[in-house]
Amino acid sequence: MTHPKRIAPSILSADFARLGEEVAAVSAAGADWIHIDVMDGHFVPVITLGPDITAAVGRHTDKLLDVHLMIEKPERHLEAFAKAGAGVITVHHETCPHLHMTLRTIRQLGCKAGVSINPGTPLSALDAVLDSCDLVLVMTVNPGWGGQSAIPSSIAKIAPLRATLNARGLEHVLIEVDGGVKVDNVREFAAADVLVSGSGIFKAADYAARIRELRDRLQD
Ligand code: DX5
Ligand code: ZN
Repeated sequence: MTHPKRIAPSILSADFARLGEEVAAVSAAGADWIHIDVMDGHFVPVITLGPDITAAVGRHTDKLLDVHLMIEKPERHLEAFAKAGAGVITVHHETCPHLHMTLRTIRQLGCKAGVSINPGTPLSALDAVLDSCDLVLVMTVNPGWGGQSAIPSSIAKIAPLRATLNARGLEHVLIEVDGGVKVDNVREFAAADVLVSGSGIFKAADYAARIRELRDRLQD
């Protein structure tokens, strides 16, 4: 099963004072999903945004809202993000002692269930839950900030993850990558299905041209 490549601009690098315009602009520019980075000042040092802003983003786009929860105790907030219009909710393995149950709850709320691993977490940590999720988000930087360089040992997880999914008959599970995805290196991520890019898109003068460039490089 091959999935169409999806480009998911991360609004972390958008101009928050003009967030509605920014979301509408990347949507018109060819974004497939809108990636929303939720940080709590605990799991990662930074604080960003929550369900109310997620709902506000949804009023400026018809694209799927891809909510990436970099927060402790994410289970306390799943319902709020589902009500805010999330299409995908991704939690971090490192924050979920009851990961299987958390993923089941996300699905029960009508969302696709994603699980993410930090660069320091091995793929094997996901073995027991691969059949309970719809998406695996491989962090290719340490979560918390936009504009970092991708970590080679994290990029190297994509191929074995794909092999494991295929071997287990889980081809429908999407592989998403997040962190340091730029035009110059996007081909290194070409085996992924969903490519998040924050600074790589929002720092461009022309969002449509940049998204087109990313897609072109993926097809080369
Ligand atoms: C990092 C976030 C990313 C971030 C990526 O913690 O999860 O989504 O916005 O930013 P870039 O693409 O600039 O590395
Ligand atoms: Zn993210």
